[in-house]
Amino acid sequence: MSKKTFYITTPIYYPSGKLHIGHSYTTVAADAMARYKRLQGYDVMFLTGTDEHGQKIQRVAAENNMTPKEYVDNIVDGIKKLWSLMKITNDKFIRTTDEYHIETVQKIFKTLYDKGDIYKSEYEGLYCTPCESFWTETQLVDGKCPDCGRDVEKTREESYFFRLSKYQGRLIKLLEENPEFIQPSSRRNEMLNNFLRPGLEDLCVSRTSFNWGIPVTFDDKHVVYVWIDALSNYITALGYLSGNDENFKKYWPADVHLVGKEIVRFHTIIWPAMLMALDLPLPKQVFGHGWLVLEGGKMSKSKGNVVDPVVLIDKYGLDAIRYFLLREVPFGADGVFSNEALINRINSDLANDLGNLISRTTAMIKKYFEGIIPQEREKGEFDEELRSFVVSTKTRTEEYLDKLQFSSALTEIWKSISRTNKYIDETMPWALAKEEENKARLAQVMYNLAESIRIISVLIQPFMPETPEIIWRQLAIPENQRTWDSAGIWGIYQQSDAVTTGEIIFPRIDLKKEMEALSALTSTENQSQAPAAPKKTVDEKPEGIALIGIDDFAKVDLRVVKVISCEKVEKSDKLLKLKLECGTEEKQVVSGIAKYYTPEEMVGKTLILVANLKPVKLRGIESQGMILAASNNDKLVLVTVDKDIPTGSKVS
Ligand code: ME8
Ligand code: MG
Repeated sequence: MSKKTFYITTPIYYPSGKLHIGHSYTTVAADAMARYKRLQGYDVMFLTGTDEHGQKIQRVAAENNMTPKEYVDNIVDGIKKLWSLMKITNDKFIRTTDEYHIETVQKIFKTLYDKGDIYKSEYEGLYCTPCESFWTETQLVDGKCPDCGRDVEKTREESYFFRLSKYQGRLIKLLEENPEFIQPSSRRNEMLNNFLRPGLEDLCVSRTSFNWGIPVTFDDKHVVYVWIDALSNYITALGYLSGNDENFKKYWPADVHLVGKEIVRFHTIIWPAMLMALDLPLPKQVFGHGWLVLEGGKMSKSKGNVVDPVVLIDKYGLDAIRYFLLREVPFGADGVFSNEALINRINSDLANDLGNLISRTTAMIKKYFEGIIPQEREKGEFDEELRSFVVSTKTRTEEYLDKLQFSSALTEIWKSISRTNKYIDETMPWALAKEEENKARLAQVMYNLAESIRIISVLIQPFMPETPEIIWRQLAIPENQRTWDSAGIWGIYQQSDAVTTGEIIFPRIDLKKEMEALSALTSTENQSQAPAAPKKTVDEKPEGIALIGIDDFAKVDLRVVKVISCEKVEKSDKLLKLKLECGTEEKQVVSGIAKYYTPEEMVGKTLILVANLKPVKLRGIESQGMILAASNNDKLVLVTVDKDIPTGSKVS
């Protein structure tokens, strides 16, 4: 029987500058998924590449006094090097300047033209060059590109159009009938409500005002619109319409296209419509992940944040960076990148939890048994609890990974690391070691620890390409005990050699010193690359997938309060200072609502206070909490209660 296939893609990157850590996000996630599926025995095709045509590239190249091709060659080289440094296991790298891609895109364009799905007309409209997107007047926000907020340009030219409008009904049906097609699901509603239901216009798919693109074969003053060119990569890379379409037959349709949320629209409207027009099967899923941004959305030297992936890997190691990217933020939600958060993660999860478990265990096996765990062992208390917990981790991890919930999958693995650390505290090997008669029990404890670590080392493989090898070496775990399936079985560890203690896998970092060093580094280096993904005007909330338990929520102490007095904070047009009655207590809060409420109208209002926030000083004034408000675009309204209730009442 032939193996089951799994086809996963990243977007193809614009080679228009240096890549920052935000760019690595999609690729690392796709790589983790590809590794996971390979471990499970799938025949995987993992595709990434570069999107090299378009006006933007032509302009940047000209600014650098190069031809577009010279310019992209140089950058693509750097991108490939970065992926190899990050141990990205893509099976293919496509460049849209590759000859086979160009030929197939030309064939696709001609096919659609012959079918009547592409027709010639005249285009008059607005174009955002940085985003390579057309917009209608009504789609603009304050006269600017709704995706990136930059200026748009008026263009008028003879153009070819794709009959996108024709596919509106089928696309609505696709999204309505296949809730899995777009993930997370909130993005599906956005597509339906903001784009599909209001109606689709035909899409302008050729340009004549510049020439860095794929020529239309039957009308060569036109080049193919860069998104038609780019989206096609997912099938041209497989040999679609070429002499050898074996891979196309084998891997298409894609199991999942991973994309950043700002390009979900292209992948769930234009792309499926193109495929429908070509009578091809549709991808099974498009997953739109969130953005990694710096505090304030932009690179800020003063905060000492380094965002160059090469520097980060050099400083902290590849596995730490990959772990952080996938662990810190639920995949789908936006997250803030900071070096401080990264270092904290390294210290707590990697150095403390995982690193300590390994170094303690190997050191004890060496100390008590000279590296060889005796065969004579005695079962005891806590063994069964440890076994059942650790051995079931694989299933829980898989459930999350199958939904691309990398963060939750890692949380599950880290729970078993904690459980194993706890087992050391429970069994107290150092006490057992004092009596010769406890030797068999001590041997069993050591065995259980090693076995837990073996299972953990197998499960972290999709995320961490380097650490498992080190663990296998130190614990002398032979190859046949490292298979994915073996993570679901307890008791198969059999050391092939003496256990060795070796390098510390994740050394602790002195946060304070490191932050100072980073500040010095960033102030001498010109860091213009910031993980500042195009800022949408509507502040998108993190996705509903960032689930918390009731106990997380219970940590927040919410109280009903009444405003006793309110005044403006001097020299600030944003802040109001409020005195609040909270039961028998009085609280002072500084709140950034001065643009929306006057001090006068605040007095007497009943509000909700987050009462257990750590106090902070704003403009020198202490603020003892935060009042709740709802906001959307330029609107902000305060949250209040439905009926009268005494102040100090708890909200839950
Ligand atoms: O969009 N955080 O290319 P691109 C998270 N060529 N993801 C980020 C990010 C950040 N700070 N910055 C970038 C394109 N990305 C097109 C794709 S596909 C047929 C054509 C992600 O280089 C971004 O969301 O602008 C996108 O998924 C990917 O990097 C490539 O972005
Ligand atoms: Mg982009």
